[in-house]
Amino acid sequence: MLWVFMCLSILCLHGSAFDILVYAPRMMQSHVYFTARIANVLAARGHKVTVIDNIFRYDVDNELSSDIDQILSVEPSPEVTKLLNTGSLPTILWNSKALPEEQRAIMEGLGHIHRLQCTHLIENSTLIPKLQEMKFDFAIHEVFDSCGIGILEVIGIQKTVIVSSTGPMDVVPITLGISDTLNTPSLLSDYGSFLSFHEKRRNLKFLSGMLNFHEMQEAVIGPLFRKYHGLKKSFGEIMRQANLLFYNIHEGSDGMRMRGRRSFDIGGIAFKDQKNLTTEYQSLLSDPRPKVLVSLGTAATSSHMPQNLKVSLLKAMKQMKYVLFIWKYEMEDEFTKSEEMTSNVIFKKFMPQTDLLASEKIDLFITHCGQNSLLEAFHAGVRVLAVPLFGDQHRNAQLAKENGLIEVLPKADIETSSKIVKAVRNSLLPNERFNQRKDSEKKMYCYRIQNNLIHVSSLLRNSKKNAENLLVSTIETIYSTDSPPNFSKFPQNYHPNTLIRVIDCAVAFLLILVVFLIAKRFKKIIS
Ligand SMILES: *[C@@H]1O[C@H](CO)[C@@H](O)[C@H](O)[C@H]1NC(C)=O
Ligand SMILES: *[C@@H]1O[C@H](CO)[C@@H](O)[C@H](O)[C@H]1NC(C)=O
Ligand SMILES: *[C@@H]1O[C@H](CO)[C@@H](O)[C@H](O)[C@H]1NC(C)=O
Repeated sequence: MLWVFMCLSILCLHGSAFDILVYAPRMMQSHVYFTARIANVLAARGHKVTVIDNIFRYDVDNELSSDIDQILSVEPSPEVTKLLNTGSLPTILWNSKALPEEQRAIMEGLGHIHRLQCTHLIENSTLIPKLQEMKFDFAIHEVFDSCGIGILEVIGIQKTVIVSSTGPMDVVPITLGISDTLNTPSLLSDYGSFLSFHEKRRNLKFLSGMLNFHEMQEAVIGPLFRKYHGLKKSFGEIMRQANLLFYNIHEGSDGMRMRGRRSFDIGGIAFKDQKNLTTEYQSLLSDPRPKVLVSLGTAATSSHMPQNLKVSLLKAMKQMKYVLFIWKYEMEDEFTKSEEMTSNVIFKKFMPQTDLLASEKIDLFITHCGQNSLLEAFHAGVRVLAVPLFGDQHRNAQLAKENGLIEVLPKADIETSSKIVKAVRNSLLPNERFNQRKDSEKKMYCYRIQNNLIHVSSLLRNSKKNAENLLVSTIETIYSTDSPPNFSKFPQNYHPNTLIRVIDCAVAFLLILVVFLIAKRFKKIIS
């Protein structure tokens, strides 16, 4: 008996299996999939993983593996279901512009959904009392949904890992003091790596809009956590207790960036395992024409595209009979029915995007530039024509363009089918059959993109395995000690709103000074 006890305690001391809690809100497909992948990898490496599956919507799948020890689900709030079913979100996304005010408004709308779901979880779910009785070594949370921050704190977990399924979510580097607010392009912005002097103020407004998304969540759910579960700290303080950060980016397609310690890029971890295509797709892909995939993601769906854009896009496709288009269009409606006879446009409600991209038969991918889609295309070495719409997509596109990897088609250009035709022809590799890009400089650019793609594709080739190893080894190392380092002593950053005020005051002061000097001069001349 004593022996068994001793063996067990030695195992506990030296064994590396942890009890891990993962908060994976099921709202945006790419976010959930990334976070669930992290849970799956840790579970596959022998850790005991419990997942909080906070379900906003059932139509988003998390694909958790059977290695997960326990899944604690929270059903969608009826109000959230109602909001998502009205279908106004995709339309708002389609109509938005890359302006700080509009992106801020979109995030406020999204934030409203997050606040409702968290309110529902705090007030009407048995989850928190249940979690309070369980024991975990540390927890991992997707930072986009602030509910996780409150949950982990009120159930007494202080060791946390923050994951961001895009690049660094602005709230993370700013709150943790690992970026320079004045010089860091916002995730919501349309900037690449660098900001010119006069872009800084506009960028601060993007940063402010992104922070506002989190601040508004805290303003609603913070008091509820306080009232029902005795929360004491602010979300900022709680975040600064984090021990590690993981981002869904890969150096191959990332820009130049300031980087804090203990922050790691694990882009590639969400690559899906390749499956064989069905015979239907195999025969589609054997078509001799160049093949173009069109998929605009799960948030701003194609079926919600404004009618004039749909019509213009289809018209452009029909003009390019020498190209086969496979278009992810989420429903059968008047639009798809009226076009059944079109021979070079194929509508699919769903498509196996990863497997199609990996098939080496796709010549161009028209995408909204979501982080996972972009990485998948680069992994497969497929050329990309980006139509960024909202959130981090403008910035993803800008960074990829900066790296010479993609061409961009601004959303406004979709209104004109000739512009689409030109963009598609210029994005496809030069081809005798549709003699595009007569001017040789542009042709050179096209080949340069191809070379860069080949390079990035080779960099990404082993990234899944590398990212998995990096994730597991950093986590196992940092939590092998009882008091892992955290960010609590890092410098506090200025809030972007404060910096905007300072800039505005300085400008106002200078203006007054100039007016004063001119007036003085004027007075002298007169007298
Ligand atoms: C919680 O349940 C009560 C009673 O069933 C209901 O009135 C309330 O709207 C629910 N709150 C949320 C946020 O779903
Ligand atoms: C996929 O196809 C290859 C060759 O056609 C076959 O060897 C393999 O078993 C298939 N894989 C699956 C998962 O069906
Ligand atoms: C964070 O680190 C500081 C030392 O820098 C330590 O005093 C504090 O207890 C840590 N906080 C948590 C929650 O572990």
